[in-house]
Amino acid sequence: MNEQIVILDFGSQYTQVIARRVRECNVYSTILPYDTPAKQIAALKPRGLILSGGPASVYAEDAPLPDKDIFKLGIPVLGICYGVQILAHFLGGKVEPGRKREFGKGTLTVRDSSCPLFKDMPETLQVWNSHGDKLTRLPKGFVSVATTENSDYAAIENRATNSYGLQFHPEVVHTPRGREIYSNFVHGVCGCGNDWNMRNYVEQAVEAIRAQVGSENVILGLSGGVDSSVAAALIHRAVGDQLTCIFVNNGLLRAREAEIVQEVFGRNFRIRLLYEDASRLFLTRLKGVTDPERKRKIIGRTFIEVFEKAVASSLRLDSARGADATIRKARFLAQGTLYPDVIESVPIAGNPAAMIKSHHNVGGLPKKMRFKLVEPLKCLFKDEVRQLGLELGLPKEIVHRQPFPGPGLAVRLLGEVTAERLEILRKADWIVIDEMKQSDWYYKVWQSFAVLLPVRSVGVMGDERTYDYTIALRVVESQDGMTADWVKLPYELLEKISNRIVNEVKGVNRCVFDITSKPPGTIEWE
Ligand code: XMP
Repeated sequence: MNEQIVILDFGSQYTQVIARRVRECNVYSTILPYDTPAKQIAALKPRGLILSGGPASVYAEDAPLPDKDIFKLGIPVLGICYGVQILAHFLGGKVEPGRKREFGKGTLTVRDSSCPLFKDMPETLQVWNSHGDKLTRLPKGFVSVATTENSDYAAIENRATNSYGLQFHPEVVHTPRGREIYSNFVHGVCGCGNDWNMRNYVEQAVEAIRAQVGSENVILGLSGGVDSSVAAALIHRAVGDQLTCIFVNNGLLRAREAEIVQEVFGRNFRIRLLYEDASRLFLTRLKGVTDPERKRKIIGRTFIEVFEKAVASSLRLDSARGADATIRKARFLAQGTLYPDVIESVPIAGNPAAMIKSHHNVGGLPKKMRFKLVEPLKCLFKDEVRQLGLELGLPKEIVHRQPFPGPGLAVRLLGEVTAERLEILRKADWIVIDEMKQSDWYYKVWQSFAVLLPVRSVGVMGDERTYDYTIALRVVESQDGMTADWVKLPYELLEKISNRIVNEVKGVNRCVFDITSKPPGTIEWE
């Protein structure tokens, strides 16, 4: 078994980020509910214990409190924020409501540089605070090793028992040296090695999926995007042919998209893939529609309808193969939900199950098809999912692909969606992808794509006057899609893309470059 760190979750929105920081140190971690019995923790033989932050006040009536025996396990403990209050509460310190809520950036001054958490670090550090209550009396045996403007006890230690407490949040990016603090704790204090990596993660995830799914069947809606692709590859590694992927071609895909998905998943991975070509149906439904919201609604509804039918036919396939009715009732639906899709961490008073954003559920499936969810990526962040995808042997083309909206090219084609106009957009988009890849820009930007505008303008080609459409080129950089800036591509590349589009795509005589940031613009045009 791997060396591991146990993280007790007191409801902080950052608990998963702590786990991620520990993974970044190449150490395995397990997140457990705050009230997990000490005996159960001891059975895992962890090298150390991290007490997460949390929104509660330790003296509140319904404050989440751990089993008091966790302090007798004889292993190193690190309390973060609310975790420090826990140390104080159980070990003879005192916590009081702070006069001033400490929130946001602060400067930490390390008073005792021999504290192992601050090994090889400067005397002052930028840190991120988010707490109201503060420590006013140290727990027994503890000393203060660092202070902030507002707190004499920003970092405390009891080196004899290897117990540490930080009032600030070292896991967030606003504490730039926070990773080193975690590394100092898990390697320096707890003595963990560097043994854990994505390969181990695959093994553990495969075991977990097998344990959850048993001999039942799983279906997964494959979009060809990173998340559903990695989920498919992982679940297939775990349960092979018990997995059926359903890929719906809505006719709004980019050039070669349907082929790539069939090639990679059907032929290379040999995953059971139901390919539903519903492009005609979608186009018929979209006929004459120009309003973007209506387009989205029609596409969403039609998708659910087609998906449902495909699920029903996969169920029929199963029963034809001899699977009995109980299997049909108890099937699993897999989703590539990532950690950032999970709104908040553990709601303390209620059910510890995480809540999922509604758009990630394949809503609207009939009640009689009752599914249990399999979400093997739920604890990972996007970049970790990409690493995992590469570890599973997925091609870079899929693992590092740019985000693509569910309603596909329909949101990039302003005005009516027709087969002819789709073809124009698809060709222009292919040129953008091709040139961005050739010039090594494709993987450096967040998104780069063509938009087909509904206006025509006059141009001249050879001796002939033309009256054709305009393509807008949209290339943006972004961290998460919430804000974005346009990318200052070299003029030569812009020139090449424009020339190729106007020369190679019939029906287009003009190409413009969108230089709007988000906000006030959006990334897609619609
Ligand atoms: P906007 O246009 O709102 O886009 O700036 C932000 C990010 O979201 C993507 N996007 C979508 N993704 N379904 C999706 O899965 C959608 O309907 C959708 N609409 C926009 C967009 O590509 C960008 O990355």
